[in-house]
Amino acid sequence: MSVLTRTEIAGRIMVALDYANAEHAEGLLKQLEGIPCFVKVGMQLFYAAGPSFVASLKERGYKVFLDVKMHDIPNTVKGGAESVTRLGVDVFNVHAAGGKHMMEAALEGVDKGLAPGRTRPIVIGVTQLTSTSQAVLNEEIGLAGTTEQAVIRYARLAHAAGLQGVVASPLEVTAIKSACGDAFVTVTPGIRPAGADVGDQSRIMTPAEAFAQGTDYVVIGRPITGAADPRAAIEAIIDSIA
Ligand code: C5P
Repeated sequence: MSVLTRTEIAGRIMVALDYANAEHAEGLLKQLEGIPCFVKVGMQLFYAAGPSFVASLKERGYKVFLDVKMHDIPNTVKGGAESVTRLGVDVFNVHAAGGKHMMEAALEGVDKGLAPGRTRPIVIGVTQLTSTSQAVLNEEIGLAGTTEQAVIRYARLAHAAGLQGVVASPLEVTAIKSACGDAFVTVTPGIRPAGADVGDQSRIMTPAEAFAQGTDYVVIGRPITGAADPRAAIEAIIDSIA
């Protein structure tokens, strides 16, 4: 990775706002005020706080990754994509397991929802959830092969559908970039600063290691949101990369 400024590094950190309501999320945002990081709004917060919370983040200038992992029939995903594009989110995602036609429908929804002069949101595919073990993949989901093979297959499919990137483990970034090209965006959770509590994540990397692999964005939740001083925690992460 070329040398990035602290501002550029902050812009590649997506802080996971995994909170039950807007009030708790606002508490964290206040502590991080002025740090130009991305914020990730997932199902828990979006289902509780709704589109108005996302709209208010956008009004305040935040870059927003809406992590709602759409997976439905193409026509429904198209409608969902249109709605979130109207909200002005910067990044959102759909499951690659929904198939090529479904992913293409998401892009059609973006076309419909995009107001003139607005920047297109980046649409990324969810490959194989990092919580899926080899046994679950083979025996429950019924896919043969290794998790990495499944991830690369989904990444290729997302790329063929015209999506701009995927969510994946930092351990898969190199293989994804070689399969789909360097410009194909990787968004990687499973990030833990050295010495941080691992929690339920298993295949982890430090932020600096993930960027050294060539990832474009790191998703970080509890190492920041669960820290005694979240601002000091994100500053330390930025320092570790700078
Ligand atoms: O707290 P932590 O840093 O583990 O948070 C990681 C975030 O990334 C959570 O919001 C989680 O839902 C999300 N995520 C993940 N693994 C995936 C996809 C998303 O951990 N494969």
